[in-house]
Amino acid sequence: MSTPFIPLILATARIERQSIKPAEFVFAEMKDRKDLETEFIDVGDFLFGKTVPSWEENELANKWRNIAKKADGFIIVSPEYNHSFPGELKILLDSAYEEYKGKPIAICSVSKGGFGGVRMIEQLWNVCIELGAIPVSETVQFSRVENLFEDSEIADNDKKKKKKEEVKEMLDILTKMLMR
Ligand SMILES: Cc1cc2nc3c(=O)[nH]c(=O)nc-3n(C[C@H](O)[C@H](O)[C@H](O)COP(=O)(O)O)c2cc1C
Repeated sequence: MSTPFIPLILATARIERQSIKPAEFVFAEMKDRKDLETEFIDVGDFLFGKTVPSWEENELANKWRNIAKKADGFIIVSPEYNHSFPGELKILLDSAYEEYKGKPIAICSVSKGGFGGVRMIEQLWNVCIELGAIPVSETVQFSRVENLFEDSEIADNDKKKKKKEEVKEMLDILTKMLMR
């Protein structure tokens, strides 16, 4: 089997989004691995502004559909907005359908507060199931994101080590699912 292709999706296009820091952290861990290939997908580059269902022609949506078709699995790094995920992520996901079937999706959540965005994860899992994808039970939470990062790096070395281990565990499980 060829090296699996697992794009990482940054789920918010908000100006001053903090989620870009955990997304870049996870992406760096992914790039360090030999057992997967990846690409950074910024949802901000796929803003259709309205729902474009999978059967409608649209240049940007087609670009996403081609990436999603090539993908063997996905990582989504998403903040929690009012206990759910950003609307721009939903519009992106809704623009394809068959492309997700049977593919694992692992979620990393980001929050300002201490709950780590877990309520968002539960909502996104439901969407993943409806898309025919396989939600990965192992998740990584980035709580209190503004304190965790300093100049785009996790400031505290112990916390950095722990997050690296958690990301590794999540990626190990995802890649193992693809070997079956
Ligand atoms: C519209 C909106 C809704 C939010 N709702 C929540 C929430 O439900 N729970 C939470 O912990 N943080 C919430 N936050 C705060 C985010 O967790 C915080 O902005 C964090 O930095 C991650 O999002 P960001 O990537 O947009 O910065 C919300 C932020 C916005 C902009």
